[in-house]
Parts: sequence; structure tokens; C-alpha cells
Amino acid sequence: MPPSSNESDRPQDVVARGYDAGADAFEAWQKQIAGSTRLERLEELLARLSEHPDVLELGSGAGIDSTQVLAGRSNLTGVDISAEQVRRARERVPGATFVHADFTQIELPPESFDAVVAFYVFNHVPREELGPLLERIAVWLRPGGWFLGTFGASDLPGWYGEWLDGVETYFSGYEPEITLGLVHDAGLELVRHDLETMEEPEGPATFLWVLAARRQVTSSPRRTLSQ
Ligand SMILES: C[S@@+](CC[C@H](N)C(=O)[O-])C[C@H]1O[C@@H](n2cnc3c(N)ncnc32)[C@H](O)[C@@H]1O
Repeated sequence: MPPSSNESDRPQDVVARGYDAGADAFEAWQKQIAGSTRLERLEELLARLSEHPDVLELGSGAGIDSTQVLAGRSNLTGVDISAEQVRRARERVPGATFVHADFTQIELPPESFDAVVAFYVFNHVPREELGPLLERIAVWLRPGGWFLGTFGASDLPGWYGEWLDGVETYFSGYEPEITLGLVHDAGLELVRHDLETMEEPEGPATFLWVLAARRQVTSSPRRTLSQ
């Protein structure tokens, strides 16, 4: 646990404070990243959806280009744990709804979204919570609905430390095989997954991309009296 934290802090509290205090530093840092295919993948996802779908973006950040694309082509709800990120997103993307909340805790109605997306977010979630989170995502999706997101790609039980401009943050994650198993076990059918390495200012960073669809509910064959 980082020195300035309280005993009762969850990793999510540390992450929220980091994105509040380091919002400018994060924005400047993010602009220097090269090699992400996020927008292409988003286009592929949108091509699979009906017109004006209901989309949930987890860890929606400050409302950058991908969120703007989504807001223009869907009924978009964004959720972010950082009040400052939510403030910036509301200012930049007035056509969407942004909720200030922890997506590992938030209650949302079942089967209310055609797609759930999360870009460069789940590496801030304690890895033991990824399975339950993916199960919640499967519940929020309509049958046949889509999930597109990135995960950390290395075996990291949980790391607290200083990040951009010295703000404290938290990272965690599993190796890809374990994450893919969790996606499958949550009731999401893997459609595509691959590792992508992009260039961050400090050097290469690899993420696991996952595209998956919520399994259709299969009703058990009806018994008849003659059976
Ligand atoms: C690396 S930023 C990415 C932001 C945005 N997706 C983008 O690509 O620009 C991670 C974001 O996830 C948010 N976040 C991390 N953990 C969260 C949680 N448990 N609930 C809601 N938001 C969370 C952070 O506040 C931050 O805005």
C-alpha cells in the first residue's frame, strides 16, 4: 500500500485519486502514445451493431476520440471512478451520459446494453476482481451483445507506485491464458483475441485485446407428457 493511503483504501480509491490529481499529466502522456489500433477495432465493433445501439463504456476517461465516435453513433453511457475525468468527459462529449462510479460496484439493469467497451482500464482492477466483473458485464449485455476491451498481459498480482508526475496508482493483471479463461467462464464467447504492443513514452507496452459476444440463452428442450 502506498505511504499516503489509509488502511481502508481499496486499490480503486488510489486509482481514482491518481486520475483526479494527474489528469493533465495523463492527457499529455496519452497524446504521445503510438501504435494503438483502438479506433479501427471500434469501427469493426460498430459494424456488428444495429443502428444507434445502447453502449456502456467502462473507465471512459476524459472523453477522447473513441468516446466521441461512440457518442456520435450510439446511446452511450460512460462510467468512471475519477470525478475529474467525468467532468472533462461531460464537457467534451455533451451527447453522452457519464456516471461517476466504480464499475466493480455499480448496479446496472440486466440485459440493457448491446455492447460494453473498456479501453486500457482493466489493468487498474485487482485481478481477483476480474472474474466477477466479467460476469457482471455478461449480465448487463443483451444476449448476443458484444464486449470489446483490453487487459494487462503480464502476471502482476498487484503493484502500487508512483506513475505520471509522481501520482500514486495501482496496476494488476494475469497472463493472457488466465484472462481468456475468465472471459469464457463469464459466459462470453471469444470471437477474437490478440496481443498488441504500443509505444508509450517510457517504452513498449503490451495489452491483450478481447472481442467476445454474450452467449445466447439456450432454453432446455421442453418435456412433454409422452416423453
Ligand atoms: C488509462 S485511463 C483510460 C481512459 C479511457 N478509456 C481512454 O482510453 O482514454 C483508465 C481510466 O479508467 C478509470 N477507472 C479505473 N478503474 C476504475 C473503476 N474501478 N471504476 C471506474 N473507472 C475506473 C480511471 O479513472 C481512468 O479514467
